[in-house]
Amino acid sequence: MLITFEGIDGCGKTTQIKLLKEYIESKGLSVVTMREPGGSDFSEQLRNILLSSRHRVGARSELMLFEAARANLVDTVIKPELERGKIVICDRFYDSTTAYQAFGRGLPLDFVQKLNLFATGGLTPNLTIYLSISLDESKRRTSRPEFDRIEKAGDEFFLKVIEGYNYIARQEPNRFVVVDASGSRQETARKVRKVFDKFFEGFPK
Ligand code: TMP
Repeated sequence: MLITFEGIDGCGKTTQIKLLKEYIESKGLSVVTMREPGGSDFSEQLRNILLSSRHRVGARSELMLFEAARANLVDTVIKPELERGKIVICDRFYDSTTAYQAFGRGLPLDFVQKLNLFATGGLTPNLTIYLSISLDESKRRTSRPEFDRIEKAGDEFFLKVIEGYNYIARQEPNRFVVVDASGSRQETARKVRKVFDKFFEGFPK
């Protein structure tokens, strides 16, 4: 079972993934977590290149590097873990590419979605939890001295990214579940657990 988390900076993905992992493990199930881009040696190296402000990276290069990182992660880590019967939780997956590269950067949506599936070899998440916060909330939560290359993109970019996530939510309401993450981490964790429980109940065992 593949569960992915999505959202803009400051939405609390890392914390909520950790809490959900503990919750699932408390039921005696085995969980592995990873992040995108990253999760394998190769993909972590691509992550450094992608997020570094040292490089000038155009939208097409950016798209293909995210997909390359994803293809490697899927082949070398995610698929083997799924075959071992693990529950895999991934911090971001191809919905990030749809939101950031298609909507944010303006690359053609159809093409990006095809490339997403090409990169995963057809693997799709069983459940995606989108932690929804406003851009204002994101900015309040992410004041730090140094932003990475993508975080430096302006408000207009992030409003388009949010629009992208809203588009996916309308297209795939069963898989892509929107959780209001504007409250406290405990409130959000409760909502996430509820979404997981409902999904898990209906999941073929
Ligand atoms: P993170 O900060 O949540 O770890 O994500 C890394 C950054 O990469 C974040 O700004 C979102 C961006 N990103 C994309 O633009 N496209 C993608 O496909 C992925 C996975 C991440």
